[in-house]
Amino acid sequence: MKKPTKIGVLTSGGDAPGMNAAIRAVVRSCAYHNLKCIGIYRGLQGLIEGDFQELNARSVKNIINRGGTFLKSARSKEFKTVEGRKKALENLKKENIDALIVIGGDGTFAGASVFIKEFNFPIVGLPGTIDNDINGTDYTIGYDTALNTVVEAIDKIRDTANSHNRLFLVEVMGRDAGDIALNAGIGAGAEEILIPEQNMGRERLLESLSRSKKSGKTSSIVVVSEGDQVGKNIFGLAQYIEENLKEYEVRVTVLGHIQRGGAPSCYDRVLASRLGVGAVDALLNGETNVMIGIVHNKVTSVPFSEAIKGSNEIDKELIRVADIISI
Ligand code: F6P
Repeated sequence: MKKPTKIGVLTSGGDAPGMNAAIRAVVRSCAYHNLKCIGIYRGLQGLIEGDFQELNARSVKNIINRGGTFLKSARSKEFKTVEGRKKALENLKKENIDALIVIGGDGTFAGASVFIKEFNFPIVGLPGTIDNDINGTDYTIGYDTALNTVVEAIDKIRDTANSHNRLFLVEVMGRDAGDIALNAGIGAGAEEILIPEQNMGRERLLESLSRSKKSGKTSSIVVVSEGDQVGKNIFGLAQYIEENLKEYEVRVTVLGHIQRGGAPSCYDRVLASRLGVGAVDALLNGETNVMIGIVHNKVTSVPFSEAIKGSNEIDKELIRVADIISI
């Protein structure tokens, strides 16, 4: 692979806090290595539409602390078509861009893989999603910030739950993964945590809630991952609990997109900066078709084929800790 001289960078899929810090690291790393850097707006859709702008080291000032992505993001249906991808390639050629860094989740990596296969165009990815559902990296950019947002919100819910002796069901994000629910649940001292990786079932939840009432608990928090089977209809679950456990008064809070916003945590800023520098290094070393991630606190590269989710396993030790400390 020829050494790139002009690198394009884009953010795609659901935004995540720290994406700006990652873009900044890519742009500044390009400047450091005397490479040109082109920002591509609105993700893979912007690639198809040629929505490009040259970025220099100063273009990314004052963004390390900002949530969202100043390049904007999109989920592109057109990029799933060969016609769309051909348009994208033409735009890259027109602009003389010879490599791409894509920041996003597994959908973004899947699209990138197809593009590499079709056109042999060099692409490196960075894991940017609050869900932490990408293989080959211990953490994704945005996950730590989302955890802190959830814990802060549940701390507030706990105050009102306690004042009224109520049970709160709190729904958190994670389309197919329970990482946010499990870790934020432990951090916020939840009574029960419902995750898609481990189907608890409604009856077992009732037994557990009944036990905790008997043990003297006056209020409770149950964290429900949006991907969990039981939690899919969280308002129905609330009704089911109230019908079967008369001693409980239940309220529901769906945290929703506040989990995706806000200033990135220090951890996410540092992670994004390390991975952004790592992505440019990887392209300069001739790597392509890989995601740059963090494993045991070391920046590593893993083929896109391995990064794309499917076998994401939840940490059994965390489940045990959650069980023990909620007694
Ligand atoms: O993948 C990140 C995520 O925030 C998921 O947790 C959630 O299910 C989904 O995106 C929501 O997507 P949208 O913002 O398109 O509604």
